[in-house]
Formats: sequence, C-alpha cells, structure tokens
Amino acid sequence: MGQLLAILGGEPVITENIFKPWPTITEADKKAVCDVLDAAGEERLWGGSGPSTTKLQDAWSERIGRKHTLLTNSGTAALHTAVAAAGIEPGDEVITSAFTFVASATCILHHNAIPVFADVDLDTFDIAPASIEAQITDRTRALIPVHIHGLPADMDPINEIARRHNLVVIEDACQAHGATYHGRPAGALGDMACFSLNGIKHLIAPEGGLFCCDDEEQFARARLLQSFGEFSDPNLPREYNARSLGWMYRSTEINAALAYSQLQRLDEYNAQRQRNAAYLHERLSELPGVVPTPMSEGVTSAYWLFAYRVPLSEAPLDDVPQVVWRETVAKALNAEGVPTRQWQTRVTPAQSLFQTHNAYGRGCPWDCPHGRRISYDLEQYPNAQRVVEQYLVLWHPETVYWNLIGPPNGLEQMSALADGFDKVCSNLAALIPLAREAAENNE
Ligand SMILES: Cc1ncc(COP(=O)(O)O)c(C=O)c1O
Repeated sequence: MGQLLAILGGEPVITENIFKPWPTITEADKKAVCDVLDAAGEERLWGGSGPSTTKLQDAWSERIGRKHTLLTNSGTAALHTAVAAAGIEPGDEVITSAFTFVASATCILHHNAIPVFADVDLDTFDIAPASIEAQITDRTRALIPVHIHGLPADMDPINEIARRHNLVVIEDACQAHGATYHGRPAGALGDMACFSLNGIKHLIAPEGGLFCCDDEEQFARARLLQSFGEFSDPNLPREYNARSLGWMYRSTEINAALAYSQLQRLDEYNAQRQRNAAYLHERLSELPGVVPTPMSEGVTSAYWLFAYRVPLSEAPLDDVPQVVWRETVAKALNAEGVPTRQWQTRVTPAQSLFQTHNAYGRGCPWDCPHGRRISYDLEQYPNAQRVVEQYLVLWHPETVYWNLIGPPNGLEQMSALADGFDKVCSNLAALIPLAREAAENNE
C-alpha cells in the first residue's frame, strides 16, 4: 500500500466506529439477576453461602479441576486471600512479575509481606523463570506468576523452582480465564489460583474474584480471612468469634448469578477471541515494524488483550528514543482508525508506592522489625523496561470500547484493524520525520 498516511493528511482506513463494546448482557443474564431479587425473603442475597454463590463456585471448581473455589468481591481480594492461605507472615518475601497490574504486588503488602519483582521475557511479557531464581533469598516463601494478557506463564520451570525452594505457587490468573498450558487449564497450574470477575475481564460479575485451591488447610484459612476471621457453617449458629484477623471479602448472590449466567457463554466468547487473535497474528506477522506476542507451542492464550511491540530495531534511528518511536507509530495507527495505546505505562516496581516504600506509613512493612528494606532499582528489570518502551495493545484510547480483540468484535473488525496496520507498516519511512520532530520537541 503506497497511500498517504492519515497522520499526514490521507484518508483513514477506518472511517467510522465499527467496534462493539464489551460486555454483552443477554436476556438470560437479566433473568438470572432478577430471579435472585425475586427470591429476596426466601433466600439471603448476602452472606456468601447462597445458592447462586454455591452454584458458581462448584461450576468453576469442576471446570478447572480444583477441589475448592471461593467467590470474593474482587480479584485483588482473592489474591490477598491466597497470600494469607499460603501462610505468609510479616516480613516474608513473595516474588511476582515486574510487568503486571499493581494488585499482583499489593496483595503481598496487604499481608505485611515484602513484594520482590522478577524480570520478564521480552517476547511473552510473562515472568522469566531464571529471573525468579535470581531473586530467591532465605526469606522467600511464595511465587505469584501472572498470566499476563491471558498468556500463561511458563509454569513447568516455575513449579520446579518452587519445589526445590519449598515455595507456594499462587497463579495470578486474573486475565486468563480459559487459557491452557500443555493441556491443563490456567487456575490448575500451581498450588492456588485467583481470577478477576471485573467487568473488563472474560467473565464478569461485574466486580468479583475467584480463589481456587485443593488443599483443605489452605481453603480453611482462606474462608476465615474472607469473612471477618470467623468460622462459618450455614447449618450452625454464628459464633461471633474471630479466630484470626479477617477481612470482609464476600460477594453477593446478585454478582454470583450474573457470573454464572455469563459462564454459560465463556467458551463461545473465548473461541471468538481465539479466532480474532489468530487472524490478526497471521496478518501482523507478515508486516515490518510490528512484533505480535508469539503464539507459543502447547500454550493457549486467553487473549485478554492483544499486545505487540514496535521495536526501533525494525527501523533503526539513532536520534529517536524508542518511546518516541512507539508513540509516533501509535499516533499513526490511531489516525488510520486503529484504536491502540498502552495498558501499564511503567514497570510495576517503578510505581511510587514501591519507589518511596510508602505503604502503611513509617516505612512498613519494609522497615518493620520483621521486614527488610529491599531495593526496587529499575536496573534489575531490563526486559520489563524494554517491554514498556516498546509495547502497545489494541484498546480504544478514549472510549469504553476497551477490549477490541474480544467479542462482540469479530473478523470484520479484525480485518479492518489489519488493513490499518498494513498501511502504517508499509509506510514506516514516512513516520521518520515525524518521530525526529517529536524527539526534538521532547514529546
Ligand atoms: C493481573 C491482574 N491481577 C489482579 C487484578 C485485580 O483484579 P480486580 O480488579 O478484580 O481486583 C487485575 C485486574 O485488572 C489484573 O489484571
């Protein structure tokens, strides 16, 4: 394609909004929620042990092959629950990914433990097993690998490291409902797993989380933490005795009913994501200047987001910083009607919380008697830094049409997106003066 790029005044490839918003709410979803409301008075809508909650928990356990699932009121709550269930104590160290959503790390702080970050693989953006090994100390108690953008982390070597060092493995599968790793589902790849049911995820409540495990002791600890530290048995009178420190992480029957109804369509939705991603992957892999996250052998991504890199090595310009090139490409794609931007804009340990060691105040938990003031020097995460410098995702910059790779968007939308990429990537040379100008202006 030799046409004038839209950013230079040409006609955009996509001239109207063809993208459809997520989530899809069906009549069945509405009925499921209304049925719960209609049952008020006969069933308790709260409390964490109603029929919709139980049905959802049982269905999820069966689906991923776990003994236990607990519905919580967020993915973050599920992660904190897992940290507590792992028996983590103040000052213990837990390793997670340097490129993730902040909750993968704050769940560790929530239990007064110390988050330690491991670097990632440049291609997959997932935590790198070798970097985990390098961060292990005699204080390390657990690992929280994150299946970033829905692509499972390399769990076999991670579990092997955990076995050798006697560490608990908690999967952060908040973005990975339906992903698989060598035939096994995300959620059944470590000792415990957590999913988010937030409205932009594959399965919506539209806020909520799922904590999953097999071990009875871990499950008992999780249940205490989830509900005030009290032991609860719906068949016995309430004790009103906090046996340990608890939170209030229960959800409601309304959220459970919506998630259960949506669960009936999860496979269909995920299949559409797979089709969309496979199509885009094929088209983009042929283009210069853009490197889509690879489709690994034996591993199925749940494609929460479609991510790709625009490395400058594909268009070497000594006088243009990588981030300026990335933004120039993003602007050119946006001008063609391809909605793209970044999700995380910095590596996780670069966030002020970690750089200033300011969580609870007074430097705790790092400076508390059991803690240790570890360094979050960003030099430790070179690949994560390169990812942040180079990556973009398909995501509308301004509107709620967040999840372009997922349904209800289909091949019609993917084909238009690929045409937009085709045009920009076939005219990369035309972007060089724009990138140089932006670099000179420090944009
Ligand atoms: C990787 C990851 N972990 C944890 C969470 C937290 O989930 P929630 O928003 O349901 O608390 C998210 C949410 O985006 C996430 O992406």
